[in-house]
Amino acid sequence: MNKLSKRLQKIADFITDNAKIVDIGCDHGLLDIYIAKNRDNVKIIASDINQNALNNAIYNVNKYKLNNIIECRLSDGLKSIAKDEINTIIISGMGAHTIVGILYTGMNKLKYVDNIIVQSNNNIDFLRYKITKLGYYIIDECLVKDAGILYTIIKFKKGFRIYSYKKLYFGPVLLKKQDNLFKEKCLNDLEKLETLYKLIPKNHYHHRFITRKKIKLYKKIA
Ligand SMILES: C[S@@+](CC[C@H](N)C(=O)[O-])C[C@H]1O[C@@H](n2cnc3c(N)ncnc32)[C@H](O)[C@@H]1O
Repeated sequence: MNKLSKRLQKIADFITDNAKIVDIGCDHGLLDIYIAKNRDNVKIIASDINQNALNNAIYNVNKYKLNNIIECRLSDGLKSIAKDEINTIIISGMGAHTIVGILYTGMNKLKYVDNIIVQSNNNIDFLRYKITKLGYYIIDECLVKDAGILYTIIKFKKGFRIYSYKKLYFGPVLLKKQDNLFKEKCLNDLEKLETLYKLIPKNHYHHRFITRKKIKLYKKIA
């Protein structure tokens, strides 16, 4: 098997032995194949809403003879998944609103789900807020730069915790670690916000207020 991309590798790093996983939007299924080969006693449902995408996963799972560990299943989010089949959900490579929509529509399937691992490129603060409202807290998170793009990957665990706006916005674990990628991301984001602020019309008070608030936050941690 070819090496996983850096992004998918970081997601895989968050998966432990004995997990009962559904990978929602598995596409080619390469992440699931890596997990099946590198973790003990896992069961994986590689699922996708799109039959063509799922066909790629079916082809790859057959190629690596992993049908005893990975089941490929057509499903819109959690709709065709039973609650006692899973304790871990992976959703990556989708927008925050799609991810949140999938989890909220399928919230009756979360009874035994201890871990949710997500990767989205937009509205990460919204993602953190909505998933913590479902009764999960942030156990770990990391940034990874893959082909010049910075990705945020978050692992949630079942349990309640209240976070400040600042922690939801920057990520409680990322804020604590303050690694070089975090600093790079903050500088990029701050630059974008400052450009945006100059373009917001003077009478768009709310938008200007929110953007100014975010700029202040960035300047405090810079
Ligand atoms: C950009 S790909 C990401 C693939 C892989 N998860 C990754 O991170 O590289 C998004 C995949 O999600 C699937 N998808 C989108 N909405 C979905 C839904 N509601 N349920 C299941 N799969 C979905 C798409 O068909 C597509 O294969």
